[in-house]
Amino acid sequence: MGSLTLANPVMPASGTFGYGEEFAGLFDLNRLGALVSKAVSTLPRHGNPPPRLVELKSALLNSIGLQNVGTQGFIEKKLPFLHDYSPPLIVNVVGDSVEEYREVVEALDPHERVSGFEINLSCPNVKKGLEYGTTCAGVERITSALRAGTRKPLWIKLSPNVSNPAELGKAAEGAGADAIVAINTLGGMVIDIEKRRPVLGARFGGVSGPAIKAVAMKVVWQLHEAVAVPIIGVGGITRTEDAIEFLMAGATAVQVGTANFVNPLTMIEVIEGMREWMGERGIKKIREIVGAAHG
Ligand SMILES: Cc1cc2nc3c(=O)[nH]c(=O)nc-3n(C[C@H](O)[C@H](O)[C@H](O)COP(=O)(O)O)c2cc1C
Repeated sequence: MGSLTLANPVMPASGTFGYGEEFAGLFDLNRLGALVSKAVSTLPRHGNPPPRLVELKSALLNSIGLQNVGTQGFIEKKLPFLHDYSPPLIVNVVGDSVEEYREVVEALDPHERVSGFEINLSCPNVKKGLEYGTTCAGVERITSALRAGTRKPLWIKLSPNVSNPAELGKAAEGAGADAIVAINTLGGMVIDIEKRRPVLGARFGGVSGPAIKAVAMKVVWQLHEAVAVPIIGVGGITRTEDAIEFLMAGATAVQVGTANFVNPLTMIEVIEGMREWMGERGIKKIREIVGAAHG
């Protein structure tokens, strides 16, 4: 993961773990491979109008709209708490312009507790957010601008709402990304047939959960054939076997998102489950199974 070595390959997906506080009472956060924050923008954001969450069959539709405390709020209110824990802290960054992304990265870069950045190029529920993540030129532009702003690990998180995610991964790698994270949510919507209106206040949202796992798997597989930097797989993981599938497709680490809402101990169960699964098969290093399905 760039200069980072993780104690284990399991971490939360941004936005499903807050800034860690809510989970700290449920298990020891030090057991995670890394901590990944909710998105941080320059100024605080209130997010989208309600309703913002709809439960679907095997999936969740959300239009939170990147509600967050802003860079200063993160530094003052969230970072002190995170000092008490040892796993690398990756800050998920979002912005409406390259300059805004860069401002967030440069403001957080001097903070020792911040280990690296995950750049969210792809929130389908924020109007201007998508454009950076949909073209190779856009991905290259933002990656090089941020590369110039930090020497810390820079992870680029891709949108699946494009025709060529592997090409975008390659563009990010070429511009200096240390790892590629795939995937973010898929754009979607639901209509209330009695009201004859969209259910979400923002009309459209992002689909996550078990229903998107097969989509994420294909993107990770294609990325494995396209890039040499580590890939972090995310999308629909609920159990050990899902995580192992991602590793075999080419991921070096995985993130657990929506499953945290159903069972907040999912990450711990996956960490223990992977250890057991590998032990039973005499597999000593994660490396032995990364990309194993490619033959
Ligand atoms: C409620 C919610 C909030 C999210 N917020 C963010 C965010 O702030 N930044 C980001 O990059 N991804 C965000 N995501 C996307 C997740 O990190 C993840 O990429 C996606 O949900 C797929 O993984 P999953 O199926 O395991 O949930 C959010 C997802 C959900 C469900």
